[in-house]
Amino acid sequence: MSQTSFDHVTIVVFGASGDLAKKMTYPAIFSLVKNGRIKKDQLHVVGTARSKYAADEFRDKISAGLKGNDELTVKGFLERCSYVSLKGYEDAASYKDLDSEISKLESGSGKHLRLFYIALPPSAFKDVSENVRKSAWPKDKTNRLIVEKPYGKDTKSAKELSKHLEEHYSEEELYRIDHYLGKDTVKCVLPLRFGANPTLAATWSREHIQYVTVDFKEKFGAEGRGGYFDEFGMIRDVMQNHIMQWIVMFGMEKPKSLSSKDIHEAKLKFHNDCLPVKPEDVLVGQYGASKSDPEKKAYLDDETVDDNSKAATYATAILYVDNERWRGVPFVIRAGKALDETRTEVIVHYKSPKDSLFATEEGSTLTIRDKPDKTHTLSLFTKKVGSGFKIVSAPLVADFGEKASPLLKEEYVPTAYETLIYEAVQGDHTWFIPRQEAEEGWRVWDDAIKGTEDRKPFIYEYGSAGPKEEAEFLKKYGVHFG
Ligand code: NDP
Ligand code: BG6
Repeated sequence: MSQTSFDHVTIVVFGASGDLAKKMTYPAIFSLVKNGRIKKDQLHVVGTARSKYAADEFRDKISAGLKGNDELTVKGFLERCSYVSLKGYEDAASYKDLDSEISKLESGSGKHLRLFYIALPPSAFKDVSENVRKSAWPKDKTNRLIVEKPYGKDTKSAKELSKHLEEHYSEEELYRIDHYLGKDTVKCVLPLRFGANPTLAATWSREHIQYVTVDFKEKFGAEGRGGYFDEFGMIRDVMQNHIMQWIVMFGMEKPKSLSSKDIHEAKLKFHNDCLPVKPEDVLVGQYGASKSDPEKKAYLDDETVDDNSKAATYATAILYVDNERWRGVPFVIRAGKALDETRTEVIVHYKSPKDSLFATEEGSTLTIRDKPDKTHTLSLFTKKVGSGFKIVSAPLVADFGEKASPLLKEEYVPTAYETLIYEAVQGDHTWFIPRQEAEEGWRVWDDAIKGTEDRKPFIYEYGSAGPKEEAEFLKKYGVHFG
């Protein structure tokens, strides 16, 4: 296993008081230490936000996200973690204080890295990035900046953000993160398509594929995140970024090589080929209260949400790609919160050949699932065992989850954040998003967002399968999920 080439690594987490930091960022950094990718003694983690915490109080908060780990290892890690409170993200003086606190920790000869991670709502990106550069970016060290999604709210704001960042940073110093690109279930599509699988490669086009569905269902709502979510809604929160990145893996042409440059080029080309999603090809919904569980309140009952909010907590959209491979093939995407199950998967639905001796209404399917389990499933039609020729769809399943065979899974499986934070430490941009792609992603979704944001969303019950109007909507396209 490779280890970092720096002698000293300081990771500065903006938004250390928040949800992402507690659930993902700190556990990821902890695991990098636990698994020896960054040595404990070469690491400092400086959390920062406006909230005030005493040192122990902050460490208790982080340790809540590290439950189930060996106590001594956690204790050792927490000793490397400190917290600095800022007066405000726009307050220049706070960054000078932050810089001097970081400097006090950094000692010793050798190569030093400062990795800043902005785990904050997008409204704070500009202030933080500008102030970090002005006050906490030492010339004698290597410095890098990770910026979370969503990258702006539309093409215009994404371009403004790019321009702002460009004034302070080179593209080399920036790492636009989308944690879906740290997932094996997302990246596995490349070896499936471009590896030694001629059966898949030969059938990967509109000639054989009827449509592709992407399902992103979460059992939980936007509780407590309304301050961020209400301004963004489901399309901006996950479709424009996470789901789009997954679709890119299914849709892009073969990169010339696996180099960062060639992968970025192929991804951008696919974005360029995507037609803007039309508002009439989008259905939006919002969850109402559960009828059976008083704890599961309507989206509008969240006190951080505007009483008249039309924010979509559910959306189904049809995306078309205008190129030789995909012209006319609908990519049917649905993403929703507060549903009956948590499930994220992409299904490639093959056509049923007209000249088949054993005709079926639909063809076989290939499913790549991230949740609730990590599986690849190829469903093929075959003969039902017994008399005659009854045809059944039989799933061939490869399980990459907890019980996966050691042939399919290494012992150490880093989380998506762990993978990407480590790659940023190593200076590898391959699975981060370049500027042009970040902006182009909005071009595909701008019309759909603008054309639906004033639309009254269909209300569905918390814990249900989503708006009942969806079935009628999908009929137009001759597609279905699952
Ligand atoms: P939070 O709402 O938890 O916010 C993080 C911190 O930001 C808060 O603790 C608060 O710190 C500060 N903050 C909150 N609202 C504002 C505001 N309006 N202006 C300035 N600062 C504010 O967000 P998350 O941690 O959930 O998300 C942070 C970023 O990470 C977002 O861009 C999100 O899209 C992204 N993300 C989140 C994921 C998740 O699972 N939560 C997953 C993937 C990405 P304080 O008041 O102490 O300054
Ligand atoms: C985040 C979104 O970016 O991704 C959340 O802001 C969403 O709303 C999360 O729940 C989903 O990530 P994952 O890895 O659990 O599918």
